[in-house]
Amino acid sequence: MCGIIGLVSKKEVSSTLVEGLKRLEYRGYDSSGIATISNEKIERVRSKGNLKFLEEKLLSTSLPGNIGIGHTRWATHGTPEEKNAHPHITDKVAVVHNGIIENNNQLRNQLIEAGTKFASDTDTEVVCHIITSYINSGLSAYDSIRASINDIRGTYAFGVLIASEPNKLFAVRGGSPIAIGSADEENYIGSDTYSLSAYSDNITYLKDGDIAIIENKSYEIFDQSNSLVEREKQSIIESVTLSEKGIFKHFMSKEIHEQPEVIAKSLSNYIDMDNSLLCVPDLPYDLSTISNVTLVACGSSYYAGLIARDWFEKFTNVKVDVEIASEFRYREPPMDSNGLTIFISQSGETADTLAALKHCKSLGQKTISIVNVGDSSMCRNSHASLKIFAGPEIGVASTKAFTCQLIVLACLAIKIGRLNGSLNKDQEKDYVKSLLSIPRLISNTLDKEDEIVKLAHDLSNITTTLYLGRGQMYPVAMEGALKLKEISYVHAEGYPAGEMKHGPIALLERDLPVFMMAPSNTLYEKTVSNLNEVIARDASVILLTDEKGLENIGYLKDKIKTFLVDETDIISAPFVYTLPNQLIAYHIALLKGTDVDQPRNLAKSVTVE
Ligand code: G6P
Repeated sequence: MCGIIGLVSKKEVSSTLVEGLKRLEYRGYDSSGIATISNEKIERVRSKGNLKFLEEKLLSTSLPGNIGIGHTRWATHGTPEEKNAHPHITDKVAVVHNGIIENNNQLRNQLIEAGTKFASDTDTEVVCHIITSYINSGLSAYDSIRASINDIRGTYAFGVLIASEPNKLFAVRGGSPIAIGSADEENYIGSDTYSLSAYSDNITYLKDGDIAIIENKSYEIFDQSNSLVEREKQSIIESVTLSEKGIFKHFMSKEIHEQPEVIAKSLSNYIDMDNSLLCVPDLPYDLSTISNVTLVACGSSYYAGLIARDWFEKFTNVKVDVEIASEFRYREPPMDSNGLTIFISQSGETADTLAALKHCKSLGQKTISIVNVGDSSMCRNSHASLKIFAGPEIGVASTKAFTCQLIVLACLAIKIGRLNGSLNKDQEKDYVKSLLSIPRLISNTLDKEDEIVKLAHDLSNITTTLYLGRGQMYPVAMEGALKLKEISYVHAEGYPAGEMKHGPIALLERDLPVFMMAPSNTLYEKTVSNLNEVIARDASVILLTDEKGLENIGYLKDKIKTFLVDETDIISAPFVYTLPNQLIAYHIALLKGTDVDQPRNLAKSVTVE
């Protein structure tokens, strides 16, 4: 989703701005642009589509200047075309924006009535004109920005240039993240740690309501009440390099293959290997008496929550709800005062999940965020935070972050079960043993990628498909369907296998591909009944099961395609059955020639509602 970069230096900045935009590409975007000030005049270059088109334009249009802002845009107001790409400018002001201005229509109408001509369909341009009108009324650059913030409603992070202040870069935060990174005789602004980490070894996040005035050697931050404040400067300790794709064609493929390694890393942070016991850190509240657990998330993180529900229910004996953040935050259901609310998010920035977190905190819930990006907004806003240690995930469709989220959720469920007496030490040891087996089990599946490639060839022309499973395999099925939809644009539906007869069965016809996840567990026989219903309607089943499952299926095995995985248990099954689905989606997308790492219309970090 939209990304901001900005820089004030002693040197020319345009090429660094473009490099900075490359580090924001992974968030998803449809257009880009940069603006600089030269001789107190604002200049800009913008382009629709991939950054390479912006680079091509910059070969013929030089953009001089020691100060500038850049933006990758993910369309909200206005179609993805050049006129809507940021920066938006007037003769005096340039603005880049991440977020949404909610009172855009009202403000736009007022400005049009006052004679303002708009050049784009964006909400951002409104802000540009408002700042300009305050400057025209005689206010200083800073006061004009401050006054404009009072006029707008919504979520935003802005980078602002004012032509009459060619040595000052302005940054504003109101709900969307923006941070400052400082280096030798130059200072940067950026949307995230990754965008800044190439230039700075430190990062200072603004807080909501802050406006920063940044020069090349120093900066000042003013809070909501206009007081000069210090904000914590953190070191960028973790390597946030986007490692090369190496032998892999796409980041997604690399990230799928990294899973044994990153899962092992995640486990090593939460398991004391010497004693085969958990070492999840203590949280700043008593987990032994919590009355219920609510898991809140979006997208794949939501499916991780649905899988984890099973663990929390079985291991802790407390009531568990799983909520889609965008629905939950407006439903505002009553919350038990002794409840624990867990927010799951790879980015830690998803607007709906973050808003739900703030809402739950205001209700007095104990909150914990499970995030990949350690210094994210959710991390900073929750009472406690557990990192998943997946490393930077660049492919827009989540893979390794999803499975690492499951690791942390399983560990937390076991920990609460131990604390409230629902699990004993031997059970903890058994579950830990199972957790420790996951990297090996996943590697075994990865070794069979050739079989998946063949399967993908057979399925390369599909236009619609069903993914079915029971129990934990139901959210695994939904995640499998989501992966296929996201990167290959094939319609796919994940459904509870037992519920198929209440609707989706109408879709079954000759050769319709149906993926069935059937580990040989207590739900196996029931799943096989549903398998029979599918076969009876001539649909084409791809059964994911283990040796025992295949043996028990008897003569039916001649009528279906199978992919065999290792035997699993309540801990390992979701991991082991997720892997083939990730690979199937990847290889079908590869055959279709889609943009696997940056699928159309999708964003990695969804910072608008
Ligand atoms: C976007 C991404 C998904 C992700 C979802 C939630 O839709 O494309 O991969 O699952 O956002 O993101 P989060 O960062 O909160 O996990």
